[in-house]
Amino acid sequence: MTELTDATDVTGDAVAFPQDRTCPYHPPAGYQPLREARPLTRATLWDGRRVWVVTGHTAARALLSDQRLSSDTTRPAFPMPTERFAAIRDRRRAALLGLDDPEHNVQRRMLIPSFSLRRAEKLRPRIQEIVDGLLDAMIAKGPPCDLVADFALPVPSMVICELLGVPYADHEFFEEQSRRLLRGPAASDVEEARDRMDAYLGELVDRKRAEPGDGVLDDLIARQLDVRGAPDRQELVDLAFILLVAGHETTANMVSLGAYTLLSHPERLAELRADPALLPAAVEELLRYLSIADGMLRVAVADIEIGGEVIRADEGVVFSTSVINRDAAAYADPDALDWSRSARHHVAFGFGIHQCLGQNLARAEMEIALGALLHRLPGLRLAAPADTIAFKPGDTIQGMLELPVTW
Ligand code: HEM
Repeated sequence: MTELTDATDVTGDAVAFPQDRTCPYHPPAGYQPLREARPLTRATLWDGRRVWVVTGHTAARALLSDQRLSSDTTRPAFPMPTERFAAIRDRRRAALLGLDDPEHNVQRRMLIPSFSLRRAEKLRPRIQEIVDGLLDAMIAKGPPCDLVADFALPVPSMVICELLGVPYADHEFFEEQSRRLLRGPAASDVEEARDRMDAYLGELVDRKRAEPGDGVLDDLIARQLDVRGAPDRQELVDLAFILLVAGHETTANMVSLGAYTLLSHPERLAELRADPALLPAAVEELLRYLSIADGMLRVAVADIEIGGEVIRADEGVVFSTSVINRDAAAYADPDALDWSRSARHHVAFGFGIHQCLGQNLARAEMEIALGALLHRLPGLRLAAPADTIAFKPGDTIQGMLELPVTW
């Protein structure tokens, strides 16, 4: 892995991107020049390539809605944020996230009913059961525990398995492959993990064809039998892959980093404990504040004039979510964690056609998981000094690698 941790590690005047965070809930200290250069500036990737970095909130929403920016990772000029990412790019495009409209829209429309607000609301009692069951087990085992392994990871993993119709019994296998895909030490890890996931999901799709169940994947397979132009086997595998990986890794990181952030802000934590009705606003503010998906990627397919600059066709564009969500023009006192602000228009879930498909589900999971954690464990606190607890490197989705807690 190429380490990009030093703000002085630049080519010309461009800042290195991505960089490791210095504090797990703030943008990396090395992004200060990006914070001072809104709405867009230049940065240098691990391979020395220069890209545009979007840093302003208004510009980000305009550009994320602009069809002149493509998400197609197989375009030769598509920016690769890490060596690992580059290793999979030549294989094939990711379902949904790697497609442009109109192809993207065909897949998205098939999935919208399964991820609607109504569907997420209906899932709440089951999510609550899963959360309560995990907390019961944690309490029975007794402190201390690792909140990542015992709670933050299994909650979304169990929920997405049930929703998709993937056996949770296989969770160690696919969590391990996601880990290698997102943070494996070498490019070869990524290729092997992807091959293993492909084989596993291919077999699952074949089994479901023979013996249908009632998950989202089963619905897609039923469509495949009914509708012309519906997804073929490979497309089903690709969709299953993105839903499974995006569906557990991201929310797990929000729960672990969210809990760490609350424990590091005792006044905010006390406010939430005193008034649980603040939870939905707190989840929204945590999404903005933590910006765990820090680096959405696009390539320009035509020249775009914006903010006094011209992004040329074939130039790479990176959106620094953590910097955008702390734009003082959009949020007063942006570095403060504040439940009373209206954070809802943040770009933590992206914006435009690729805006997170799972956002209703993720919000429900975060509210229920964080709410239950605070309610059931009033004495919850870190079981190690805050500055010794390991968090994830900057070139992946941000979150805690472990979170030792006691109560
Ligand atoms: C708090 C947790 C989550 C965060 C912060 C998050 C963040 C994001 C972001 C930033 C994007 C846009 C990427 C881009 O435009 O390049 C995205 C897209 C996506 N997310 Fe999430 N996500 C979360 C949870 C979930 C969950 C639970 C699912 C469930 C399946 C999910 C599925 C997806 C999918 C399928 C896309 C691609 C949508 C498309 O291209 O149309 N995400 N997510």
